Amino acid sequence: MATSRKTAWEKLEGLPRPSLAQLFAADPARVEKMSARLEVGEGGVLFDWSKTHLSDDLIAAFEELAAASDFAEMRRRLFAGEVVNPSENRAAEHTALRGVGKEASVEEAGALLARMRLLVDAIHEGALGEVRHLIHIGIGGSALGPALAVDALARDLALVDVHVVSNIDGVALEAAFSACDPATTLIAVASKTFTTIETMTNAASALKWLADNGVADPLGRVIALTAYPEKAVEWGVDETRILPFAESVGGRYSLWSSIGFPVALAIGSEDFAAMLGGAAAMDVHFRDAEGRANLPLLAAFADQYYTRLRACQTRAVFCYDERLGLLPDYLQQLEMESNGKSVTASGDPVDFPTAPITWGGVGTDAQHAVFQLLHQGTNLVPVDFIASIAPGDDLDPAHHRILLMNCFAQGAALMAGRASADGARNYPGDRPSATILCDDLDPATLGALIAFHEHRTFANAVLMGINPFDQFGVELGKDIARQIEKGGADFDPSTAALLAAAGLD
Ligand code: F6P
Repeated sequence: MATSRKTAWEKLEGLPRPSLAQLFAADPARVEKMSARLEVGEGGVLFDWSKTHLSDDLIAAFEELAAASDFAEMRRRLFAGEVVNPSENRAAEHTALRGVGKEASVEEAGALLARMRLLVDAIHEGALGEVRHLIHIGIGGSALGPALAVDALARDLALVDVHVVSNIDGVALEAAFSACDPATTLIAVASKTFTTIETMTNAASALKWLADNGVADPLGRVIALTAYPEKAVEWGVDETRILPFAESVGGRYSLWSSIGFPVALAIGSEDFAAMLGGAAAMDVHFRDAEGRANLPLLAAFADQYYTRLRACQTRAVFCYDERLGLLPDYLQQLEMESNGKSVTASGDPVDFPTAPITWGGVGTDAQHAVFQLLHQGTNLVPVDFIASIAPGDDLDPAHHRILLMNCFAQGAALMAGRASADGARNYPGDRPSATILCDDLDPATLGALIAFHEHRTFANAVLMGINPFDQFGVELGKDIARQIEKGGADFDPSTAALLAAAGLD
């Protein structure tokens, strides 16, 4: 009889937990065994999980947990476009946008992306007149991916200057207005549902801004990116400027669809295709590699080890690359909205911790702000370091050399520690980290990096038996905001007093 999840966890709980120093001492081949390079585009990405506490025994037991969790079958369903989101009876077909998945879905996604490419190329060729700016309006998954990719890839060579606006706080939209010339600005309205209040309110204000500033046909400057094109038509957008995507693409997995329009407009269709290609390389790896050789799955083993066996409540991501400054924000939605759940996929309460809190920042800045806690605090925080061997700048090579040296020094220091009789100067060490090192941060490696985290998130969900593709936790707050807007509802005394203080009662 196959091992149950419970039995697999009992075994995991009973295994020895050697220190990092012991693991390295016991196995001279540890680095080779615990790291692997994936060829992506014109370069590659190195994934080094050797400074985590995974031992051969732990990995073998996690492989048993994966089998007990039906990992192979769940992964097959994901790529076959079958239902993997039972609470909404949906598939999750983001990989089809990268050309990996059910044939019909890959074909449909390809046709929709070809349509986007035609529009992007036409805009570059002047079909909508001079276009110097794009204000991309969306929130959550309709903003975080585009903001990350534009910031990472279009810093000095943007074909169009893109401003991503998500917050309903008008200060955000005003900042974009003040950086754009209305006569040469397009507005992208990005919303899977085309109903999100923040996005629709910001979009209406952007149209008004165009009209107030002499643009004769503001709606003619709008591109709609949505899974519900009929809603965009109703809102007044001409069908030729509506770029649809499939309902089976989840919001936080939608960068690859027409939600990526601002990225394609900023970096060009070729480079956007290269980003999809990099993600596809990771898809094929995740689909085909087995057990510990599967990088996102191996990362999920370490994640589960720290969250469940070592009670780590957070995990941190530090990018030693200024261009990846928005990656922690992106990963927060990907990981916390996907796996921050309290019930299993079949609706039963869980009796174990699910997603840790993802946080992070950029190195070296973070070293001078939060690393004190990582080195000497009482919380054990598994850290991921992400860096690029090739620099993103053209300055004196000393900049990049110092950046990378610091990145590697932090991982080494966390692991080794330094004993001192003076407690304040004592570093306990044995603190884990993983390192992801790109040859060069280009569209393909960024695509692979993001897809790696998507699959890692999925693998974690499968190991926990939860559904990573719904997000009902965000609904209650929206409901209450609507009740406040309608008026007449009773609230708790604190909320009622706050509403009264702000004149909203
Ligand atoms: O409120 C959460 C959420 O539904 C996210 O999952 C989603 O990415 C975001 O809102 C935006 O939704 P939409 O793209 O439909 O505007």
